Amino acid sequence: MEIDRRVFVSSLGGAAAVALLTPDQKADALEHYMEEQLSSAEDEYPTVASLEAANQDLTRPARRGAGGLFSQRNGKLKKLPPMPEKPTLLDFYKFRFAPANHVLQSATRALQTGMREEIILACLLHDVVSNLIRPDHGWWGAQLFEPYVPEITSFAIRYHQTLRFFPDTEYGYEYPESYFRIFGEDYVPEPYLERTHKWLKNHKWYEHPRLVTVNDLYSFDRSAVVTIDPFVDIIGRHFKQPEEGLGWDNSPSSHMWRTMIWPDRRL
Ligand SMILES: [Fe+2]
Ligand SMILES: [Fe+2]
Repeated sequence: MEIDRRVFVSSLGGAAAVALLTPDQKADALEHYMEEQLSSAEDEYPTVASLEAANQDLTRPARRGAGGLFSQRNGKLKKLPPMPEKPTLLDFYKFRFAPANHVLQSATRALQTGMREEIILACLLHDVVSNLIRPDHGWWGAQLFEPYVPEITSFAIRYHQTLRFFPDTEYGYEYPESYFRIFGEDYVPEPYLERTHKWLKNHKWYEHPRLVTVNDLYSFDRSAVVTIDPFVDIIGRHFKQPEEGLGWDNSPSSHMWRTMIWPDRRL
């Protein structure tokens, strides 16, 4: 694909905005830009059947559900620095989840709209488990964070995935356009998602995952420079960082953190 450098740079807010980006953020922005160009070149959404047929291409570098640490982006695996001996959540953002643009932008929006801190934290954490695994990422993500965050936060992470499929006009939440491309234009959520949605609708905590979906946007202003800095205090107040380091504290999800520390281990 031919990239018009000038158009790309101005889509990011100009040369000054680009200069503030790290190499990882630049690669991420370029990838998004190319995806956008490609999808605006297609005038039709795929169907469930055509996506299923594409899954039968067994020469793919990885299955679509493989976590970001285990699959190629732009034809290359990501370079992974070694982790510190006692890794903190911030170390994971720096060394394993970067650039984490999507979750940083979600959390920034939640902060700007005055959400409670447990929800801002949920927005910050809501998709990072996709570095480990993608299918049912709400459930996986909640399990990863459960030992360390308030119950409201893990509840919101677990169920945001389900609520993404179900519009709610009361909260101004619409079915995402991107899902027509990802799941197919004729996709109908599976019965387990329908059941979970029905149960959530009557739950006293329905609002918490719903508020994550409200901040879960893909059409962001990419010239906005987002960092984890505004969230360091919120993490300090609500994330129980284990003294031994994540992965080494013998919690029910320590093995998941270790897998992200060493994604090249074969067993
Ligand atoms: Fe998500
Ligand atoms: Fe998201």
